[in-house]
Amino acid sequence: MIRQCNNKDFETIYVIINDSAQAYKGVIPPDVWKEPYMSKDELQHEIDNGIVFWGYEEGGELVGVMGIQQVQDVTLIRHAYVCTVKRNRGIGSKLLSYLQEQTTWPVLIGTWADAIWAIRFYKKHGFRLVTLKEKDRLLRKYWSISERQIETSIVLADQKWFSAYWY
Ligand SMILES: CC(C)(COP(=O)(O)OP(=O)(O)OC[C@H]1O[C@@H](n2cnc3c(N)ncnc32)[C@H](O)[C@@H]1OP(=O)(O)O)[C@@H](O)C(=O)NCCC(=O)NCCS
Repeated sequence: MIRQCNNKDFETIYVIINDSAQAYKGVIPPDVWKEPYMSKDELQHEIDNGIVFWGYEEGGELVGVMGIQQVQDVTLIRHAYVCTVKRNRGIGSKLLSYLQEQTTWPVLIGTWADAIWAIRFYKKHGFRLVTLKEKDRLLRKYWSISERQIETSIVLADQKWFSAYWY
């Protein structure tokens, strides 16, 4: 079951993100890895900035979360995390498809350039990488992240974005 997360889910979202983000350990550049990967303050900051988390529930427990954030003229998919032991069973796909249906705006997704599994996952769902020059511009325009994170990230866009903004 997919449902919108609420205040009571804060702790669980925090646990899922930090369990799932272990996938990055030893893969993304060491200077951008930290533990916990996302602190409670950072998570609260993201929610305060308009990220709405949706969760996939199994047996009454959240096992995956994905955030959606409207920024100017695009929708961002943020912080997609499925518990390590629940991966490769279609949960991420269901969450992503559900969130895509929630918006009529072009959708952008940013992730680490080294997270090849995530890039493959999004490509399977019809997203395409934007050029390196374009991703720098988009990350500066729509995200609030450090220059180092911009340097080490990529951006994928859906067909709607390519049709609207790519000539
Ligand atoms: C990216 C992520 C959210 C995807 O979630 P997921 O639940 O594993 O996604 P799915 O199960 O829908 O799809 C993953 C793969 O499993 C396959 N799969 C889906 N259902 C399956 C099933 N029933 N049996 C076997 N494989 C299946 C998919 O085809 C997909 O294959 P791919 O790796 O070749 O793309 C998850 O890998 C994750 O949390 N990763 C760590 C954090 C991360 O990288 N987040 C993205 C940052 S933006």
